[in-house]
Amino acid sequence: NILDYETCVKHSKEPLLVFSPLLCPVAWSGPIMQFKLSDIGEGIMEVVVKEWYVKEGDKVSQFDSICEVQSDKASVTITSRYDGVIRRLHYAADDTALVGKPLVDIETDTGPEVAQEEDVVETPAMSREEHTHQEIKGHKTQATPAVRRLALENNIKLSEVVGTGKDGRILKEDILNFLAKQTGAILPPSPFHETRESQRPKEVQPASLPASLPASLPARPQPVLSSQDVTEPLKGFHRAMMKTMTAALKIPHFGLCDEVDLSRLAALRSDLRGISEARGVKLSYMPFFIKAASLGLLHFPVLNASLDEASQNITYKAAHNIGLAMDTSQGLLVPNVKNVQLLSVFEIARELNRLQVLGSSGQLGTSDLTGGTFTLSNIGSIGGTYAKPVILPPEVAIGALGKIQILPRFDSNGELVKAHILNVSWSADHRVIDGATMCRFSNLWRQYLENPASMVLDLK
Ligand code: COA
Repeated sequence: NILDYETCVKHSKEPLLVFSPLLCPVAWSGPIMQFKLSDIGEGIMEVVVKEWYVKEGDKVSQFDSICEVQSDKASVTITSRYDGVIRRLHYAADDTALVGKPLVDIETDTGPEVAQEEDVVETPAMSREEHTHQEIKGHKTQATPAVRRLALENNIKLSEVVGTGKDGRILKEDILNFLAKQTGAILPPSPFHETRESQRPKEVQPASLPASLPASLPARPQPVLSSQDVTEPLKGFHRAMMKTMTAALKIPHFGLCDEVDLSRLAALRSDLRGISEARGVKLSYMPFFIKAASLGLLHFPVLNASLDEASQNITYKAAHNIGLAMDTSQGLLVPNVKNVQLLSVFEIARELNRLQVLGSSGQLGTSDLTGGTFTLSNIGSIGGTYAKPVILPPEVAIGALGKIQILPRFDSNGELVKAHILNVSWSADHRVIDGATMCRFSNLWRQYLENPASMVLDLK
């Protein structure tokens, strides 16, 4: 039989043998597997193909990364279960791929007995709690060549990394997490991000920052001059943002703004910065803002609640999973620091460093991006004094922080002093939170930050 490749695949659900030496230029032949995009959970029905790591005609081995797909929640790497040759990519980069539909065809060099297997999906980073580091002596580690290379480049022993992939396989995210936890350092970007980053305007790296951490102040974007309008579908995170913000618009927002004098905190931070950096963790103001919020939430649990409109129930959340709006290469994302009520300022800083490393390389996983209970948005690290933050449903409160400015103020003796002033803007769901509660919480948060030593009294 001489069959052309398209016909082979179209007319059979079973693996087929391609016999034609004319139409199949590679002399070697085997069954063709049509990999379907399997269910990646969270009710996700479609994803955007961010990047192919292979092209048609490439030879692949088991567990080699085939492509990276992006849902509205996270990035996921899809890997091969077979040794074989890529025969067809069903989508181009940036296309939307549907769960359950063919993604890639691979001509395998194995017998038909294994040809019924499904594709392998490597899930992104798991929650911090799941990453306990342990020595696995004598245990054969499973990782793709790319992941092994990444570990090698960063002097990481694979035996020390806990794999969160299928059957304990070590994923790229595991290496990133391991490195971020151990050193607070950033990895060299993956080829994909290297390409993307090289197209982005270069960012200003403050001299005092360790080279490993993401730069904070993006340079002015390149001007775009276009001769025609461009219309494109909203995809991935942007699509999720449209959905969430449309839902948020239904919430009656109560707003409250105040001014906080951070002069003492500025002095404390400069005392602690060196110590923290010596331990490999950058210490910005954010960990103090987050910890002060958590201490305040202990007194006002209604602000750390979630509202279920349909059942008209309010759930007071035990965990303070404090989200922080993050300006990432993929746009606005809101990862959260889990269980802040149990963490020291240093531990929050370390976790923040980890999230920033992942955010800057497009590696934030579902567990980092879900489960938030209260949010802070530090727009001041970009600029601006005031903001009008929008609540992230089902949360009920959010705070936006402006740029810290050195401004003249009077001290308690009536003397004119240089003060570090921060403006905070709170929004609360007025269906369940009244203005007085929001104001009392804000006062307490301000007191902790204006007299940071007082936080020590309440730290567990
Ligand atoms: N005012 C002045 N300086 C500030 C500041 C503020 N409000 N917030 C941070 N900085 C300083 C930091 O102290 C740090 O300076 P340093 O090197 O002297 O320590 C520098 O700016 C960089 O800080 P950054 O790396 O941004 O860390 P961070 O912990 O303060 O903030 C994020 C982390 C993730 C919140 C921040 O990087 C970010 O993405 N902000 C944008 C949030 C956003 O987009 N909000 C809008 C949502 S709609």
